Amino acid sequence: MLQTISWTGSAARLLDQTKLPTETVYVDITDERQMWDAIKRLVVRGAPAIGVAAAFGVYLGVRQHADDSADRFLKRVDDVCAYLATSRPTAVNLFWALDRVRRAAHEIDGAASVGSSPPCHVVRDILDALLNEATLMLEEDNRVCRAIGEHGAKLIEGLKGATGRIDLLTHCNAGGLATVQYGTALAPIYVGKEKGLDLHVFADETRPLLQGSRITAYELKENGVPVTVICDSMAATVMSQGKVAAVIVGTDRVAANGDVANKIGTLQVAILAKHFNIPFYVAAPTSSIDMSLPSGKQIPIEERDPDEITRGLGRQTAPDDVEVYNPAFDVAPAELVTALITEKGVVRAPYDQTLRALFANPR
Ligand code: MRU
Repeated sequence: MLQTISWTGSAARLLDQTKLPTETVYVDITDERQMWDAIKRLVVRGAPAIGVAAAFGVYLGVRQHADDSADRFLKRVDDVCAYLATSRPTAVNLFWALDRVRRAAHEIDGAASVGSSPPCHVVRDILDALLNEATLMLEEDNRVCRAIGEHGAKLIEGLKGATGRIDLLTHCNAGGLATVQYGTALAPIYVGKEKGLDLHVFADETRPLLQGSRITAYELKENGVPVTVICDSMAATVMSQGKVAAVIVGTDRVAANGDVANKIGTLQVAILAKHFNIPFYVAAPTSSIDMSLPSGKQIPIEERDPDEITRGLGRQTAPDDVEVYNPAFDVAPAELVTALITEKGVVRAPYDQTLRALFANPR
């Protein structure tokens, strides 16, 4: 599988996803400004990948300041975290990851103030802790996605029809390229394939930036999973023809009541699935669940450049100066979600209770 993010020893290496599917280009990110830009421009994208990338961004943004006092250094850590937090608003993994590295840095300082480490050692220790935490997240992401894959594969195995083939539909890209390696929504498909399931995927192309046709179709093909690309407007047709056994998508943020934010167009897929009585599954690592928000109404939705719609396909596709609305995400209400597939197991309604129980259980 392609490696979305890796650490070279001196830089964070990102697969430039703006170039897929025609070019496989890696870029080495060496400071926080480059990381901010890479997240904003979707060089690195997908909620879990954004989080891990930002964690490395913090280390890259402070490593030149090892000669500062511990107080000044920690202030710089906080500033770099605040700066990277402005890159994209919707995926909670970004804030989750920044909060985690910030806490790791402050914990080292707190421990040092009750011990006897000389100040220069404290800053070195904080730097080490930042890099360790980012590296840990990279490794953890693989374990979390694998567990989602195992739980999800059991669910989709139960959908086997008379022919034995299982046809799924997905929207956007919640695959290996949206995480470090396996993916969330595509993990059950990869694990299912390993277990010998006969799987086929409809990939919505996902306008305006075509993550479905450019990225999902690319990675499924690379991994030997049969895939059919459809325009977003064709999902109703394939569902009405009985060609879809289940929908499986990823998420950028799940609210405490089970409302799910994901790539724009997911809401209409969820409504269609309900209409055609097709299960609508959302693969959600617990790092994407935001228990601080009571409902999806509070999830901030990113609005992006109108050019993505008017010039997104390499040519002008709308008249000059026409008004454009370009929200990058939408929110599917919990009542449309058949189940959430987390690394801790499958969670069903009533989500306000089951999600609370999930976080209460340290499994
Ligand atoms: O704008 P993007 O490409 O970052 O949007 C990505 C998605 O909407 C994914 O479905 C979501 O982040 C889940 S990725 C495991």
